[in-house]
Amino acid sequence: MSEPWLARAAAVESWARDLRRRIHANPELSGQEWETAALVAQTLAGLGLSTRTGVGGHGVVCDIVGGSPGPMVALRADMDALPIQEATGLSYASQRPGVMHACGHDGHTAMLLGTASVLAAARDRLRGTVRLIFQPAEETVAGAAAMCADGAMNGVSAIFALHGWPGVDVGTIATKPGPVMASTDTFEIVIQGRGSHGAYPHLSRDPIAIGALVVIAAQQIVARQIDPLEPAVITFGTFHAGTATNIIPSSATLTGTMRALSASVREALPRALEETTRGVCASQGATCTCTIHTGVDPVVNDPTWTVVAVEATRAGLGAEYTAELHAPSMGAEDFGVYLRHAPGAFLRLGIGDNAVGHDCRYDFNDAALVHGMACMAVVAEKALDAADLR
Ligand code: NI
Repeated sequence: MSEPWLARAAAVESWARDLRRRIHANPELSGQEWETAALVAQTLAGLGLSTRTGVGGHGVVCDIVGGSPGPMVALRADMDALPIQEATGLSYASQRPGVMHACGHDGHTAMLLGTASVLAAARDRLRGTVRLIFQPAEETVAGAAAMCADGAMNGVSAIFALHGWPGVDVGTIATKPGPVMASTDTFEIVIQGRGSHGAYPHLSRDPIAIGALVVIAAQQIVARQIDPLEPAVITFGTFHAGTATNIIPSSATLTGTMRALSASVREALPRALEETTRGVCASQGATCTCTIHTGVDPVVNDPTWTVVAVEATRAGLGAEYTAELHAPSMGAEDFGVYLRHAPGAFLRLGIGDNAVGHDCRYDFNDAALVHGMACMAVVAEKALDAADLR
């Protein structure tokens, strides 16, 4: 028999909504989450829970120890905001110019605090320990690794997280086994050509024209070198060169991101990009440097724990609040870092019609809070039971 998590979550809904709006109004960039972390720690203390702060930066870890001994499962929320000027016009819009919760991490943090409240009230019924992980610096995909290095995953048998998702019905939980989010690695290419007067291109090795060839040739990697059944993305996000209309500059700098859902494709992309870039530059009489910055693994849901999470959600929220996820996203998340330490599942929480994440009009939908809180609570309860049986 499960706890009435939905009713318990509904009882703290307005409290969680107030917290969410307070966090929304006071967003902090990745690695600068002082106030948010302090609010989290203070709120948990108010619930009679003890915390470990300063974990991997501004991370907060809180263990809710159940009434009977057992394994430990973890729930994770991210706390950071984005360098975007908010344009929602909301009464609780960001009070910080150029900083905004445009990915719903305000909602994730408030929901996990709400989950803490309902789990703490029912802790006697828990068989084991629920660890709450409040993570900094997700947007820079640095926070999870720092928290893991600081012991956040020690002793954890399974881990789960929710991410608000526009376009999915409000309160509906959608997931699937296998890959759900992509890896991300970034690159910087510097093309060294030869500058000249704009009127005498034959005297130059034009790095802008060569860079344009590199951008086009890189798309051939995805189209012709990667199995078409394996998703891959190479996107150039910046291309900087030149100072005037009539001068051919001597160098150009291009940066971008590479995405994949499998380890083999992830490994192939940087190698192919470097080879292609060198080949194109050599053919045009230029040289180049190609620097790869390693990002994070794809998020690959464990099949067994995905079933546990889906069945728990069905039991706790009702079948009408679960949906099968058909395709992964090529967006990235550093949740995959935790999955190196323990298996688990990453769940989407529907927030209905909304601007897409990282848009200046985005606002996490408060109507989804109650379902998110109940989902995390019931998943934690059932996962403890499942971990105990393993
Ligand atoms: Ni996010």
